Amino acid sequence: MRNFLYLLLIFIACCAAVVGIAGLRGHLSRKPPIEVFPDMDRQLKLRPQKPDAFFANGLSSQLPPPGTVARSRPIQTVNGAVYRFEDSPVNTGRVPGTTNFIATNPLPVTLKLLQRGRGRFDIYCSPCHGRLGDGNGVVKKIGDMPAVADLHDPRIVQMTDGEIFNTITHGKNTMGAYGPMVPVPERWAIVAYLRALQLSWLGTTNDLSPRQQAALK
Ligand code: HEC
Repeated sequence: MRNFLYLLLIFIACCAAVVGIAGLRGHLSRKPPIEVFPDMDRQLKLRPQKPDAFFANGLSSQLPPPGTVARSRPIQTVNGAVYRFEDSPVNTGRVPGTTNFIATNPLPVTLKLLQRGRGRFDIYCSPCHGRLGDGNGVVKKIGDMPAVADLHDPRIVQMTDGEIFNTITHGKNTMGAYGPMVPVPERWAIVAYLRALQLSWLGTTNDLSPRQQAALK
C-alpha cells in the first residue's frame, strides 16, 4: 500500500512538472512555445516597408524592374483585347462558375483569325496531327508516337469549341499542353481553323451547285 502511495505521489509530481513546463492545451502564453522541430520558422528575411541594408538604396521594398509587364495588361489581338488572368470563357473555355465547356468560339471568327489559326496549326499541331488534321503527321513516319488522334473523328468533330481549347491548353493523355507556348487568342484561332478543316472533310456532292452536280454526272 505504501509503495503504491509513493508511486501515486511521483506520478502526480510528474504531471505537475509537465503541466508547469509545457502548459495546458489551449493555454495562452506570451512565451514562445517549446520547439522540438523548428522547421524553418525563423530565417533571415526583409520586412516590408522597413529600412534594410540588403539593397543598395537601403529599402526593403523595391520597385519592379523597368519593363515589368503587369498581369492586368491586356494582350492585343486581331479582334481586340484579351485579359489573360480574368476568369472568363476566353481564358478558360468554360461557362463562368461551372465546369461546362462553352459551345462556340468567343472570338469573332474572321478571315484574319482563320489565317492566323492556319499558321499556328501548321506550326504547333501538324507535326503530330498532320496538316490535314488526320493524325498522319511527320512524327508517325520518323518518330514513334502511337495513336495520334485523327481530328476528323466524329467524336472530336462533335466536341465543343471550349473542350478543344481546353485540350490545347492542358493537353490530353499522351498529348502535352500547348497553353504555355500558344497565347490565348492564338489557341482560339487554332480552334477556328480546326473547325474549317473538319468542315472541309464533311462536304458532300449536295454542297455543289446544280451545274457542278450535273457536270459530275
Ligand atoms: C506531340 C504530338 C502532338 C502535338 C504537337 C499535338 N497533339 Fe493533339 N494529340 C496528340 C495525341 C497523341 C493525342 C491522343 C491523346 C489520347 O487521347 O491518347 C491527341 C489528341 C488531340 C485531341 C483529341 C482530344 C480528346 O479529347 O480525345 C485534340 C482535339 C487535339 N489533339 C488537338 C491538338 C491541337 C489543336 C494541337 C495543336 C495546338 C495538337 N493537338 C498538338 C498528339 C499531339
